[in-house]
Amino acid sequence: MPSKPKSPCLPFGDHKTAPWYGQDILSVKQFSRTDMEYVIEVAHEMRIMVERIGTFDLLKGKILANLFYEPSTRTSSSFMAAMERLGGAVIPISEVRYSSVAKGESLPDTVRTLECYADVIVLRHPEVGAAALAAKHCRKPIINAGDGIGEHPTQALLDTFTIHEELGRLDNLNVTMLGDLKYGRTVHSLARLLTLCSGITLNYVSPDVLMMPQDVMDEVAEKGIPQTQQTTLKKVLPRTDVLYVTRVQKERFEDVADYDKVKSAYVITPEVMKAAKKKMIVMHPLPRITEIALEFDDDPRAAYFRQMEYGLYVRMALLAMVLGKA
Ligand code: NCD
Repeated sequence: MPSKPKSPCLPFGDHKTAPWYGQDILSVKQFSRTDMEYVIEVAHEMRIMVERIGTFDLLKGKILANLFYEPSTRTSSSFMAAMERLGGAVIPISEVRYSSVAKGESLPDTVRTLECYADVIVLRHPEVGAAALAAKHCRKPIINAGDGIGEHPTQALLDTFTIHEELGRLDNLNVTMLGDLKYGRTVHSLARLLTLCSGITLNYVSPDVLMMPQDVMDEVAEKGIPQTQQTTLKKVLPRTDVLYVTRVQKERFEDVADYDKVKSAYVITPEVMKAAKKKMIVMHPLPRITEIALEFDDDPRAAYFRQMEYGLYVRMALLAMVLGKA
């Protein structure tokens, strides 16, 4: 967890002693095991509250600026829904081409503007490190909703919440990540976050050109987590507890011909899944293209649509935490 709290300019009524109050969420590296468990606990409470009463006023009077420089359906709408379910309001800026960004405004100036109107800023940007740069220039908490091929910490937190809710544990799991592990920021964050758990084995299955980056593997290795690398699922699928499928990230390829060579490398079908355990889950951050066949959607192990809903509760928890209400 970062040690230097920011000082939002309008702290009236906030609980300034809450540990995440005023903090940025830029990387999963900020989280300890206790922090991760705390997010899960608060998210679980949010789930119960939403199921019981739908919307409540924990963040009444607070405003979220949702600033998206890259396409998004789930992340942007779940943050919006999270803020509104907590009684707050949202400034949505998804079409940056209609904002001053199109006139050439820099990211620091855009966040300096939004901090005048909002209490927290959620940022998605195509460049690695953009959220950290924005945070340097902003007095309000910045939440990284994806910085290029860098990190996607809120997705990794909702992924661990999903694993916890679905399998009832975070330890002693065999986790297989499949697909585009080079450009997929979700797996970069999730692999790092899972190093907080014990008894984890991480299997990376990808085409040679889309392997997990060495720096992520080195960080995982430093924590003593066993890792395996393969180009097919065959060997690892029978022992997998969590199969985390990813989309080949077309927009990150310089040459579309290279994308075409790997875009259909893996397809999860009911037939393929016959080799997997009965009690395991298949996750996907979505959007899916062709990597999971529609025919698998009705299988009880297909957790990817439930995973989206869990994202709402985790994002409610994170907003409440950085605004000092959890
Ligand atoms: C992911 C992302 O944006 O990194 N989507 C998401 O946030 N749910 C994965 C992807 O785009 O493939």
